[in-house]
Amino acid sequence: MASIYRENLLEGKSVLVTGGGSGIGLETARFLMQHGANIAILGRSLDRLKAAKIDLETTGRTCIYYQCDIRNLDQINAAVDYVIETYKKIDVLINNAAGNFLAPFTNLTTKGFRTVLEIDTIGTFSVTKTVFDKFMKAHGGSIINISSTLQMPCVYMISHAAAAKAAIDSLTRSLAMELGPYGVRVNAIAPGPIEGTEGMSRLSSKEGPSFEKMIPLQRYGTKKEIAEGILYLISAQWVTGINLIVDGGQVLTFPNFSLGYPGAIEKWSAKL
Ligand code: COA
Repeated sequence: MASIYRENLLEGKSVLVTGGGSGIGLETARFLMQHGANIAILGRSLDRLKAAKIDLETTGRTCIYYQCDIRNLDQINAAVDYVIETYKKIDVLINNAAGNFLAPFTNLTTKGFRTVLEIDTIGTFSVTKTVFDKFMKAHGGSIINISSTLQMPCVYMISHAAAAKAAIDSLTRSLAMELGPYGVRVNAIAPGPIEGTEGMSRLSSKEGPSFEKMIPLQRYGTKKEIAEGILYLISAQWVTGINLIVDGGQVLTFPNFSLGYPGAIEKWSAKL
């Protein structure tokens, strides 16, 4: 496996990934296992978790799973107990589970808005609180929250998820400050558009301009590139409270019509 990191960097570490049955969570689990970690994945779909375990254990490492909706505190408690019982510890928590859908404000109900905040923001809080109380308070650890670039500055049709991720960014900073004295580092990573994810497949099926051309590095990112950023955050022992943007430069510019529509800016800025 070609990696920019030492192969046994996470030897003996126990890592819990919420939403680890698919997408960025699954690839992150695989990447961390390839660097020596034992992994626990949580998710809503049992079938998906079972398939992910079989797939992930081809790395030669152990993967355990627990069916859990992070909106349900009883399920979170049972899941975290199971992971601690099995691995005796949780060194790293990756708050990856999230849910969203595309809807302009005009079609968004209070229930829809609440649903996304309950999964993304309150779910992140609840899993963090449970893992902290049951293990990290006494032993320290590292927490990585999956943020996004949707709220930087803002994207149409996603006000619910942007609000949820903005709250996660704020929580990341507050908890970095409050949990630092316990030896717990709290960081976030903000993926730009990542190929092969459910979110991107929804966007790409829509009519419209190519987002790819609006990214300064002119391509979508890969799930592995997000996992590499996560491994950096796990390893960097004096880094806490940051949000690492991994997006090919997208957030610096978007929407950048000069890249998406060559010639448009020249036309708009021409002297009359
Ligand atoms: N447009 C507008 N509102 C919507 C919507 C849409 N496309 N999809 C869901 N909602 C709102 C509705 O208010 C809905 O309640 P209602 O059907 O009674 O009106 C409410 O959200 C809850 O939706 P529901 O599907 O019942 O919730 P769920 O808990 O089963 O699913 C979601 C959670 C909403 C996040 C769902 O989109 C989902 O499971 N997505 C897949 C996972 C995912 O998003 N992964 C991340 C990819 S980036």
